[in-house]
Formats: sequence, C-alpha cells, structure tokens
Amino acid sequence: SVLPVLATVVAYLIGSLSFAVIVSSVMGLNDPRSYGSGNPGATNVLRSGSKTAAALTLLLDAVKGLVPVLLVKYWGPEYGLHEGTLALVAIAAFLGHLFPIFFKFKGGKGVATALGVLLGLSGWLGLLVLLTWLAVAVVTRYSSLSALLAAVLAPVYYVLFGASLWDYEKPVLLAVIAMSALLLWRHAENISRLLKGQESKIGSKKDKAA
Ligand code: G3P
Repeated sequence: SVLPVLATVVAYLIGSLSFAVIVSSVMGLNDPRSYGSGNPGATNVLRSGSKTAAALTLLLDAVKGLVPVLLVKYWGPEYGLHEGTLALVAIAAFLGHLFPIFFKFKGGKGVATALGVLLGLSGWLGLLVLLTWLAVAVVTRYSSLSALLAAVLAPVYYVLFGASLWDYEKPVLLAVIAMSALLLWRHAENISRLLKGQESKIGSKKDKAA
C-alpha cells in the first residue's frame, strides 16, 4: 500500500515548518537566521530577547514531531501501519526540521523536534530525555551541551528501559539512534565552541545585547 510512503512524506512536510522563522515573522521579530548562532531554533530565538517567541518555537517545533508519531502510533494499526512506518514517520518529521523543503533546506539542529518525537514514541522515553536536558541545563547553562548529553543517552535509555517501560521495537530503536547521530552532527559548531570555552550560556547578557 501507498500509505506508509504517504505518512512519511506528510511527516516530512510537517517537520519542514520551521517555527523559529514562522513565529519570529508573525511576532514581527528579526529572522533568527540573521543573528546569534544563526540557527532557526528556540535557543537562538531566545537571544532575540523574547521569551514568548522562544517558548512558542520550542512548543511548536516539539508538537510537529509529536503529532505525526502519535497519529501513526494510535491509528496506524487500523490501517496496517506498524512499527516500521512509525520509525519512518519519526525520522521524517525530524529530517523535515533539519532540511525544510519550505526554507531552502536550511533548518535547525533538531532538539525540540527530537523531544516531541521521543515523547510520541514513548512518554517515558521523552520524559527521561527531557529531565536529562533540564538537569544538564540547570547545572551548566549550556543549551547545546544539554542537547548533546540528552541525545547520547536517548538510545541508551531505549535499550535499558524499552522492554520494561514501553514496547521495545527494533525499527524504532534504529530511528532513535539515527536521530541522535544526526543531532550530534548538527551540533559540530557548538561542540567546537564548547571545547574552546566560547559557547554562549542560556540567558547570557552578552547575547541579549547582540
Ligand atoms: O537548539 C539547538 C541548541 O542545542 C543550540 O542552539 O543556537 O546555541 O546553536 P544554538
């Protein structure tokens, strides 16, 4: 059937909605691709000084990962869509955020969208990853480092707790590993800034002036 392909394409299109750019434009703020790290993501939108815009970006970029996954998870089986399609839809929404068809394929780093996808795959998995992100963020104030550690741990959590806390599925594990690997790759510049001690911290005054 054509349904798995259709679901994957639709998830990619939804993922392609770059909410950092959309929210900023609707709120009359500068384009996040023009300041700070240049990344269309919630962390960089926060550097505009608008917490509301950053929060909306985070929420909507997460929801666009969450919704396609939940739809396939709960209604997929009725239409013959199972864990293979679930994994494809998960990765497609994430890839849409990284390479958005509506924004010249120049997207973000995938943190919020990955979180939404993981929450959809399993509430427990998403919660563990979110708590990891928050714990590192509270201690270090580095958004990127928090995302890097959360991404490394996501597949580890899946393997450790999958069988007991949620349905462990091989294709889904592969999707989680692929998302984490892509997320790390997208943070190459952040990694080099972190190593040089030049990464900006959440809420830093230097950023707000910039
Ligand atoms: O949301 C991506 C975050 O991990 C890093 O963003 O703007 O500091 O490169 P940024």
